[in-house]
Amino acid sequence: MTENNYTHIPVLAEEVVNLLITEKRGTYVDATLGMGGHAARLLTALPPEAMLLGLDWDPEMAAIAAQNLKPFGDRVKIAQGNFANIDEILAREGVHSLSGVLFDLGISSLHFDKPSRGFSLKHDGPLDMRISPDNPLTAYTIINQWPYEQIEHLIRVCGERHSGRITRAVLAARREKPLETTGDLSSLIERVVPARGEKIHPATKTFLALRVAVNYEFDNLTRGIQKVMPLLKPGARMGIITFHSLEDRIVKETFRIMTALGGWEPVTRKPVKPSEAELLANKRARSAKLRVIEKL
Ligand SMILES: C[S@@+](CC[C@H](N)C(=O)[O-])C[C@H]1O[C@@H](n2cnc3c(N)ncnc32)[C@H](O)[C@@H]1O
Repeated sequence: MTENNYTHIPVLAEEVVNLLITEKRGTYVDATLGMGGHAARLLTALPPEAMLLGLDWDPEMAAIAAQNLKPFGDRVKIAQGNFANIDEILAREGVHSLSGVLFDLGISSLHFDKPSRGFSLKHDGPLDMRISPDNPLTAYTIINQWPYEQIEHLIRVCGERHSGRITRAVLAARREKPLETTGDLSSLIERVVPARGEKIHPATKTFLALRVAVNYEFDNLTRGIQKVMPLLKPGARMGIITFHSLEDRIVKETFRIMTALGGWEPVTRKPVKPSEAELLANKRARSAKLRVIEKL
């Protein structure tokens, strides 16, 4: 599939193919195209008459996917934009009715691996964390300009028990000089958070909180679901893969409300998780959960 060196192993790919496709000759949307891993699996499983529109907020990812998906020719259309505006983007592309939509949330392995994007705990880079370069907010702004209460609240709601201690250390450090890099922030957190004997780095939850805030991830998710609902045909499905409990809670609750209000039925009563074999092959899959709902 790849003509470049970028690969991302799609998570729960077989399950996505089996649970999302209901109409063989339909039009599908991959709202988080990434490097096109799921898109390629869906297109391979579908006959040549089926179409897929792929969307990514990050122009770099959209360009990589365009290259990776070249073998599928004009069965694929690629657009750049935020899935929070999926209705407008699809209208612009002339797509008005869908057989299925996939959201594989978060960021791609390339984002983590490229220090210049500022997402990684392992590689030093600027405190950036923007998925789209058009986004005015960066992690630098949050860390160096937001008041104590806002930073502390943000990282606490993302599950960090030492939110007060970390925020006090950030404010003390930035009084001397701004925190410039991911390394500045992660080493500061390492110094102030006691070793917990946990497998995850002590800055993991702070980094997740910053990424979520910089990219308005929860707001995008809620808006994306709402905006795509009217575009799905009866019998069409929406599949969402999440990677942390806050995101999964939003999906679970939204699907519960959609079902209660009528017109939708869950396909997965419990979230689908990766098999042992997948976990062995792809560590990134370990927290993935797939939920699927069908329009009646
Ligand atoms: C987990 S990756 C998807 C990987 C993809 N399924 C694959 O197999 O290669 C998530 C992708 O969604 C994109 N993304 C995140 N938030 C988005 C948003 N609000 N709108 C559109 N794309 C978004 C990211 O840039 C990233 O490329």
